[in-house]
Amino acid sequence: MKHTPVLYQEALDWLAIRPGGVYVDATLGGAGHTLGILKRGGRVVAFDQDPQAIARAQGLGLADLQLVQANFRELLPQLARLGIGQVDGILADLGVSSFHLDDPARGFSYQLEGPLDMRMGAHGPNAAEVVNTFDEETLADILYRYGEEPQARRIARYIVAHRPIHTTTQLAEVIRRATGFRRAGHPARKSFQALRIFVNDELGALEQLLQGAEEALRPGGRLVVISFHSLEDRLVKHFLRTSSKLETLAKKPIVPSEKEWQENPRARSAKMRVAQRREEAR
Ligand SMILES: C[S@@+](CC[C@H](N)C(=O)[O-])C[C@H]1O[C@@H](n2cnc3c(N)ncnc32)[C@H](O)[C@@H]1O
Repeated sequence: MKHTPVLYQEALDWLAIRPGGVYVDATLGGAGHTLGILKRGGRVVAFDQDPQAIARAQGLGLADLQLVQANFRELLPQLARLGIGQVDGILADLGVSSFHLDDPARGFSYQLEGPLDMRMGAHGPNAAEVVNTFDEETLADILYRYGEEPQARRIARYIVAHRPIHTTTQLAEVIRRATGFRRAGHPARKSFQALRIFVNDELGALEQLLQGAEEALRPGGRLVVISFHSLEDRLVKHFLRTSSKLETLAKKPIVPSEKEWQENPRARSAKMRVAQRREEAR
């Protein structure tokens, strides 16, 4: 198993790494971007809420790398705990890693049979609790809001009628029956995305990370955010547009080259936004 970092060169270039500078990698994952920052002489404080990601990186025994097993929404308190004031750059490469998607036991994949978990961290309610205990209307709202699933109501009705549902592939099959076969892509894709976003409160955490970044970056420090679906990208775009402390650097989102697209299917939906802390907060 391996995770190929998305927009690797572009993210490192936009971070404008200064040897000896301190950079937060908010999403360590397989440590691809972290290794890149270290290679360019930066020091890294890397967050991941997944204990497995932290354990893998610990195994690498790298100098100039501090690991923080926490949600990135805790950026400010965690930096304070480490005695770190302002930092030179922050990178967030959002969502799940290939380690998550390829491991059936984590329950993220609609193609591999596994328990309905979908938690990136080790705490909180999992997808099975949501699917088996939430009322039909709330389920429909989740599928519509976080998956932009046009058939949310119908899928929620089918889910409630087929409970209990224990595994990923059982759930995928119920969704397939609800939506019929006439669909581009896998019929369960949007619903799985919705459940994952809800279970991990991904949009709430992202909003808090962005608020934290406003304070944690030194003037001139860079923020680089790579997102993988329109809900995240819209949130980042809107936040940057209205922030008095951060200034957007690239007006249009940066997207992978066609070559990267072809080599790494996960890169296809990636959009990167870049900002800089203003010299004088207005
Ligand atoms: C797309 S992967 C990052 C891959 C990494 N850039 C690399 O090159 O290998 C995202 C990682 O961020 C973690 N993550 C996602 N949301 C998080 C959050 N709110 N707090 C902490 N870690 C999070 C996930 O557990 C996952 O390991």
